[in-house]
Amino acid sequence: MTTHRIALIPGDGIGQEVTPAACQVLDAVGKRHGIEFRYDKFDWSCRRYAETGAMMPADGLDRIRGHDAIFLGAVGDPAVPDHVSLWGLLIPIRRGFRQYVNLRPVKVFEGVQSPVRGAESLDLVVVRENVEGEYGEIGGRLNRGFPEEMAVQESVFTRAGTTRIAEYAFALAATRRNHVTSATKSNGIVHTMPFWDEIVAETAGRHPDVEWRAEHIDALCAKVVLDPGRFDVIVGSNLFGDILSDLTAAVAGSIGIAPAANLNPERDFPSMFEPVHGSAPDIAGRGIANPLGAIWTAALLLDHLDHPDAARDLERAIAAVLAKTPVRTPDLGGTATTVEFTRALLEQLP
Ligand code: NAD
Ligand code: IPM
Ligand code: MN
Repeated sequence: MTTHRIALIPGDGIGQEVTPAACQVLDAVGKRHGIEFRYDKFDWSCRRYAETGAMMPADGLDRIRGHDAIFLGAVGDPAVPDHVSLWGLLIPIRRGFRQYVNLRPVKVFEGVQSPVRGAESLDLVVVRENVEGEYGEIGGRLNRGFPEEMAVQESVFTRAGTTRIAEYAFALAATRRNHVTSATKSNGIVHTMPFWDEIVAETAGRHPDVEWRAEHIDALCAKVVLDPGRFDVIVGSNLFGDILSDLTAAVAGSIGIAPAANLNPERDFPSMFEPVHGSAPDIAGRGIANPLGAIWTAALLLDHLDHPDAARDLERAIAAVLAKTPVRTPDLGGTATTVEFTRALLEQLP
């Protein structure tokens, strides 16, 4: 029996509804593979902020540093400004634990209707740079209340940061269909992007077996909708990768499906697993959130903790519940609750 300690942060809104589903599934898969999960639950959230003035304690990172992985639901509540909640919890974990790869696979499952015609062959991974780029910490709001009021934020692209994400993307493509698309905007306007392109091209030179091309982010968004099947690995900066991951998830049927792994590939620090979607205040508390994003995220966690057989079993159960049963949450056109869908999925586990 292998035991893993997981730091569990359900967070806000539907994070509270989808994380119990993911844990239930992890426990069930673990039982079949001799893996035990011990969860330490943390109430870090906007509710905690309202009560204490902080999203997490000052020594928050130290409390979860020793865990094998972090599982997070979602962060954000209309009562707290997003920049306060996110810079107070999600972003410090990604940066503090050097989780510089945000891995976001999507595909169209049999039995799921894409809103896009001809999208059945979509099967891609967005590799998103996760700690620098447009999410720079240099800048702020100046001259508040004056006519000269302004907001400034510096994008920060480093050679090391861009090289390591590009390397990750090319190495990943070599295990898939050998193709990388680099999301760029180098047509002379955004000064950081020719630098990004240069480093991606250098990286490509070290991976001669992997084909690649750069696509401008605006045209790329159109191509993802018009011809989604042609992509394998898409590598993008923090902001471009963020936008592409909701877009690709929607093309695959719903943003409620998409998983994410915030990886520290060197394993100096724990990695964090969370679905792509947010706290969905518009449906929170109704028990109808799609737990699939969180459950597929659990499969990424199993892979990261070196349990590929368990991860494949879970992926097969996901595919089976969609292909063989009509059980769906409302975002996929069904009437099932989060709990009912999770139960149907558990029945498909070998
Ligand atoms: P969102 O992802 O929360 O919701 C967008 C839309 O998708 C909503 O209509 C929602 O109902 C729907 N949706 C999302 N997940 C779903 C699911 N599992 N099942 C069914 N429908 C689902 O994005 P938003 O509305 O832009 O943001 C809401 C809050 O979440 C904000 O505070 C935002 O900052 C935060 N957020 C947090 C994270 C995170 O913690 N990683 C990610 C994105 C947004
Ligand atoms: C995501 C989210 C976050 C991001 C927000 C909530 C800060 O949209 O994880 O995709 O932009 O990274
Ligand atoms: Mn996002």
